[in-house]
Amino acid sequence: MKRILLSVPHMSGYEEKYVAEAFRSNWLSTVGPNVDAFEKEFGERVGAHAVAVSSGTAAIHLGLRLLGVRERDEVFCSTLTFVATANPILYLGAWPVFVDSERATWNLDPSLLADALRARARHNRLPAAVVAVHLFGQCADMDPIREACGRYDVPVLEDAAEALGSLYKGRPAGTLGAAAAFSFNGNKIITTTGGGMLTTTDARWAARARFWATQARDPGLAYEHSEMGYNYRMSNVAAGIGRGQLKVIDLRVEQRRAIAQRYREAFADVGGIEAMPEAAYGLHTNWLSCFLIDPPRFGWSRDQLIARLDEAGVETRPVWKPMHLQPLYAASPRYGGEVAEDLFRRGICLPSSSSLTVAEQLHVVNQVRAAAGHAALEDFAALVSAAA
Ligand SMILES: Cc1ncc(COP(=O)(O)O)c(C=O)c1O
Repeated sequence: MKRILLSVPHMSGYEEKYVAEAFRSNWLSTVGPNVDAFEKEFGERVGAHAVAVSSGTAAIHLGLRLLGVRERDEVFCSTLTFVATANPILYLGAWPVFVDSERATWNLDPSLLADALRARARHNRLPAAVVAVHLFGQCADMDPIREACGRYDVPVLEDAAEALGSLYKGRPAGTLGAAAAFSFNGNKIITTTGGGMLTTTDARWAARARFWATQARDPGLAYEHSEMGYNYRMSNVAAGIGRGQLKVIDLRVEQRRAIAQRYREAFADVGGIEAMPEAAYGLHTNWLSCFLIDPPRFGWSRDQLIARLDEAGVETRPVWKPMHLQPLYAASPRYGGEVAEDLFRRGICLPSSSSLTVAEQLHVVNQVRAAAGHAALEDFAALVSAAA
């Protein structure tokens, strides 16, 4: 059996038509019909204005600038995340302040955030913005987060890089904050090989972000610039891939959720391995299937399990290392951090590609079961009927 990877690109078959059109028409740069159509189709899907850019990181950078973050501002940010959430705060010359997760969702803790904002308001030191990450396909609890921020007029940016297709109380990720950023990096639920999308319900903001993403060139013949911009636009070829991918987003959500469900059923009788909780308020896409290991009960530590699976040809990874534990951000202020530390130390992400076959997943499951001293499963069918 070939090595089973964590999360790989999964083409639908529709992409090549759009890419071929780009080649045939010679729209091979950062302008063209696919870019326009991808923005339109993505915007319709999410219910916001969309700006196609070269990465999710670029979308976060533009989003923070739209929110008015400037040099020497402070920005509150989930500590349990990938470093690309926080780095754009530094790009703007601002400083991150990290906030812990809640156990119920693994995302930004709304009550800790509310306390932190209240304390800051008393000293007249409110942050310029809050970045709330929707981790592994599950939305943060946005109503109390927005309520806490709304009290002090602090805008919220959603880092929805991992959350395309997720819902919060029926509303899509990407419409829950003042602006949001998505990623189409190769390991995401849909990919453009690399790319991102900024969404906002404010049409003027979208136009502003598009302007900055294309070097902020002023209208007119001459190359005149009044503002600093970036070379952040998505190419018309990448946008063609995105259009093909977007056609199957619902199927990809279904596939990733089915994978997570099979893992949960297959580990139901195994002690010391517990699935990432799914909040009742929304739809968790399970972009990655994540579990917590309790070493005394499971028999192995998380790192031992990762090493064992690696030897068995299975790629896994730890849950994100919190930002406050990163050498880069060791000096940054923070509120809490113990929950994120525990999730990081015990959390494992298992192979979750939407193209993962049942035979491959059975191999992963049986390696985990064997580590815990449990008998192998022959197939998933018995589990499904036992659960029914
Ligand atoms: C939470 C989070 N934020 C931001 C990013 C950055 O996206 P990109 O790799 O497209 O720049 C990623 C993924 O890479 C991510 O997982």
